[in-house]
Order: sequence, then C-alpha cells, then structure tokens
Amino acid sequence: MRILAIESSCDESAAAVYETGRGLLAHEVFSQIDLHQIYGGVVPELASRDHVQRLLPIVERVLASAAGDNSSAKIEGIAYTAGPGLIGALLTGAALARSLAHAWGVPAIGVHHLEGHLLAPLLEPEPPPYPHVALLVSGGHTMLIECAGIGRYRLLGETRDDAAGEAFDKSAKLLGLPYPGGPHLARLAERGRANRHEFPRPMLDRPGLEFSFSGLKTAVLHAVRALPAEAIDQQRADIAHALQEAVVDTLVAKSLRAMSATGLDALVVSGGVSANRRLRERLDAAAARVGVRVYYPRLEFCTDNAAMIAVAGEARLSAGERDEVGIPARAQWPLDTLRPPGQQREAGYREQVKQEF
Ligand code: KG4
Ligand code: ZN
Repeated sequence: MRILAIESSCDESAAAVYETGRGLLAHEVFSQIDLHQIYGGVVPELASRDHVQRLLPIVERVLASAAGDNSSAKIEGIAYTAGPGLIGALLTGAALARSLAHAWGVPAIGVHHLEGHLLAPLLEPEPPPYPHVALLVSGGHTMLIECAGIGRYRLLGETRDDAAGEAFDKSAKLLGLPYPGGPHLARLAERGRANRHEFPRPMLDRPGLEFSFSGLKTAVLHAVRALPAEAIDQQRADIAHALQEAVVDTLVAKSLRAMSATGLDALVVSGGVSANRRLRERLDAAAARVGVRVYYPRLEFCTDNAAMIAVAGEARLSAGERDEVGIPARAQWPLDTLRPPGQQREAGYREQVKQEF
C-alpha cells in the first residue's frame, strides 16, 4: 500500500510518501522557526496560516519525487496527524488530507502524533523489537511507556509539570538564546564546565517513574539572576551545562528504573529531545552496563516529521482502519486510548469526541 502522510501539529509543515514493504520513498519538512523566532515561541494562529500556504506545495513535491520512483503507482491511502497539538494547525493538515482522500476516492486515517514519534525508529535498518520500553521526550511530553506492539501502550510514568524539551526551551530563553532553545542550549552546554552549579535532580529520591522539570527552570532563573551584568559567555555555558546534566541524569535514571521494573531489554528513545547528543551518550553507556540496547530514530526523524506519521498510518490503513467523517482533529488525546491496528476504536470514543466539541 502506497500512502501519503501529512504532519502539521505544531510549527513544522511536513509530508511523506511511504510504501508497504519498501519503506520511505520521499519526505520533506519545512520548519516555521523564522516565522515564530521574534515572538520567542510558536504563535498558533500564525502557524495555522503558514501551514495553509506551505502544505500543498510540499505535498506536490513529495508526490512528484515518489512518482519518479514508479510513475504508475497511485496513492492508496492518506494519513494525517489528528492530535494532540495546536487545534488550528491540526485542522489545516486534516482538511487537506481529507479533501485529497475524498477527491482521490481513497481512505484517510487520523494518526496520534505521539504514536508517530514512538514508531519513528521503525524507519531505521535495525528496528526495535517488541515488547520494549519507550522514553518519549519532546517539547510537550515526557513519558515512559511500555510498548507491547503497535497500539498496545501502557503508560508507566510521565511528567507532573514541564516536559524535558520545555525545560531546555525555557532555560534557553532565560539564558537569552533564540527559539527553539533546546538545540542552542545543548550547543552552549558543550563549552560549559562541570560542577559550577548544583541543580536538583527532581523526583530521583522518590520511587516511581514520574518526572518533574519545573523546579529546574527556577534553579536556572536564580543562577542567571546571580550572574554579574557583564557575565561572560563561559558563565552562561556553565549554567547550560548544569541544566543539561540535571535533565539527562534524571532521564537516564528513570529509564533504567523502567527497564528493571519491566524486565525488558530494549529501550526506544524518541521525540525532539532524543536528538540530544549528551543524552544519547549517557543512555548508551548506562544501558550497556545493564545489558539493555537503546534504539533511536535518525536525527532528522527525532523532531516533527511526516515520515513517522506515514509509518503509523500505513500500519493502521493496511489493517483496514479508516476514519469516520467528522473526527478531523483532537487537541488532546490520551495515548493509552489507542488500540492495535485494525481493532475497533475504544468504546465510547465517539461520545467522548462529541463532548469535546
Ligand atoms: O518532537 P518535537 O519536534 O516536537 C514536539 O512534539 O514537541 O520536539 C521539540 C523539542 C523542543 O523542546 C526542542 O527544544 C527539543 O525538542 N530539542 C532538543 C534538541 N533538539 C530538539 N532538546 C535538547 N537537545 C537537542 N539537541
Ligand atoms: Zn512531536
């Protein structure tokens, strides 16, 4: 089955073409960073308007690129990110996907954005085995999930407040770094000196698999305020280093705790923060010591993209799953309400969606 996938949940406009058995044929991501940078964060209304302008040309380009591969092959289904995310942004992708599906007479399926992140490592030559534990670390989520198969997810623990990516982004803002702060902070941290700041390791002293990162942001705020007005770059780098170490320490420790709690030996790490070099280095070393293998998406598939939406969409469309008209997008959508591909959506799903609107 050859499918088109569209992603527009936040500030990336993306499309991909994917074929069962052959994998990814074409994909493209356009990041709206320049548009939102002067505001220091994503402006939802601007994001939606930009998606409207960008998506169709991107879709045309990936279709042309995949057609070069086999010009007689037709798109047989369309997957789009249906949530969670910014509702206006989601609706632009949903409307485009559903319109194309209607015009071409093919089925459409709304994909859960986090399921997309969880399945991104399946695009790699050595995909992770099931069951495994997944550490999902993005700008909006920090979760440990036991994954028994596609659509078979059990939440083990999540953040009580800020996500790991948010801790990076908010700290970066306090350090005067441009949006989106995570990658900038990570780069600055490389030049930082160890042990210059004592930042907390939230929730590490307590049992369980929950996270909390909002206290770290406050620690960064105090450290930044204590800097002299003429603070040199090295001092800011020291703070960045301390923040990164605190986040990474926490993620590594809780991931290992999840591995021993479940007895599993494969760990998937996905979402934007899985691009962090220090996190990969520390996780690989810690996991190797306890006989756990870690699987990551390649760097370009850590952050938002349509290739991962295509993987999730292909699994569901080829199992015969289709969207009913009238469920285009959901701003909020608990991951553990998903079911394996081809199985009925959860009982009461329609009622739940009706109530939301
Ligand atoms: O998965 P993603 O693209 O979007 C969401 O679904 O949230 O993740 C974006 C997040 C942002 O918070 C960004 O700062 C963070 O991932 N991020 C990083 C790095 N690259 C992206 N954080 C730390 N280090 C990085 N190298
Ligand atoms: Zn994402």
